[in-house]
Amino acid sequence: MPTLDVMSIRKDFPILSREVNGKPLIYLDNGATSQKPKQVIDAIANYYQQDNSNVHRGIHHLSAIATDQFEHVRKKISSYINANHDHEVIFTKGTTDGINLVTATYGKMNVGKGDEVIVSAMEHHSNIVPWQMLCEEKGAKLKVIPINLKGELIMEEYDELLSSKTKIVAVNHISNTLGTINPAREIINKAHHIGAKVLVDGAQAMPHQKVDMQALDADWYVFSAHKMFGPTGVGVLYGKEDILNNMPPYQGGGDMIKDVTFEKTTYNDLPHKLEAGTPNIAGVIGLGATVEYLNSLDFEQVNQHEKELLNYVTEQLKAIDGLQIIGNAQNKTSVLSFLVEGTHPSDLGAILDQFGIAIRTGHHCTQPLMDFYNIPGTARASFAFYNTKEEIDALKKGIVRALEMLL
Ligand code: ALA
Repeated sequence: MPTLDVMSIRKDFPILSREVNGKPLIYLDNGATSQKPKQVIDAIANYYQQDNSNVHRGIHHLSAIATDQFEHVRKKISSYINANHDHEVIFTKGTTDGINLVTATYGKMNVGKGDEVIVSAMEHHSNIVPWQMLCEEKGAKLKVIPINLKGELIMEEYDELLSSKTKIVAVNHISNTLGTINPAREIINKAHHIGAKVLVDGAQAMPHQKVDMQALDADWYVFSAHKMFGPTGVGVLYGKEDILNNMPPYQGGGDMIKDVTFEKTTYNDLPHKLEAGTPNIAGVIGLGATVEYLNSLDFEQVNQHEKELLNYVTEQLKAIDGLQIIGNAQNKTSVLSFLVEGTHPSDLGAILDQFGIAIRTGHHCTQPLMDFYNIPGTARASFAFYNTKEEIDALKKGIVRALEMLL
């Protein structure tokens, strides 16, 4: 198999050739947000320069163009994720918005006193807090699938948690802090077996994998454009048609209605029922260009390259005295959280920044996970397909120099 042409891919991402603090940027904070190829930036600029108009509203030329482009992206995404129907793709503000949409609609209708919602110990706050709020309001219980020290879900404990009280299981596909790839299909099958619904947070999976909705069989799958090389402020809630059809609207307003009188409003069909107000049109068009860009890549090559990056960074950083890797799952993507004895992650991050190296430090919006490891936070290098082994060499050199300054 030919290898990924990383050098030519890097040319598509203008920001990768800038300097930070007088040094070439080494961007290793892709878990927080990824960089955008010029194809995406151009698509957004082009929309504003040539086609800017509202969607689903006007009879005029520009509105028709904007609507066509917007709805065309829905089709593109539907085909990219292999949904059954285009109207199973709902545009949101992002992953957090998608999860809140489900808790506020399906959750409020179907979770009651004494019911249970299951999340995992490695969830992002956005896949904990909305469920916690729902459980508090309804008198339901939030249960947690525990993990082992390597950062893997303990599936036997998951089996024990599932019961007739379980209404919803909400788990991430890939952990943003540990990089663990969770056995989503198995989690879904087991939950379906006892009649529970499953929401999968795919925010960290979409930049690394192609995900097939029909094969996965999740009831809802949520993700953000900005983590998969697209714009901020836009994301997708995929949901199965029958489930979305039975969900009440999330927000009231324009576009989500069929007919309004002061006595009664009838709601629009999918997908519009769940998309009140003027959407992020430029963002959706940018997401369309993102999907086109991703479609131009060979994901086997992407996976191979990212696997090599993960193996290389693991091997290189392990060789540093006192460095401990947090998250050693068997099945893991190119994310590396670490701590160095005697240093605080934020000191390390601040010094690396002086060398032009961007990593994230802190709890990564996973405080319960930090509590499990009994640590305040980690330093995290998270990689995308445009990263290189040379950047890992620079990271290692930067850490070693930082340690000379700190210890
Ligand atoms: N969830 C994002 C991260 O992991 C912000 O950095």
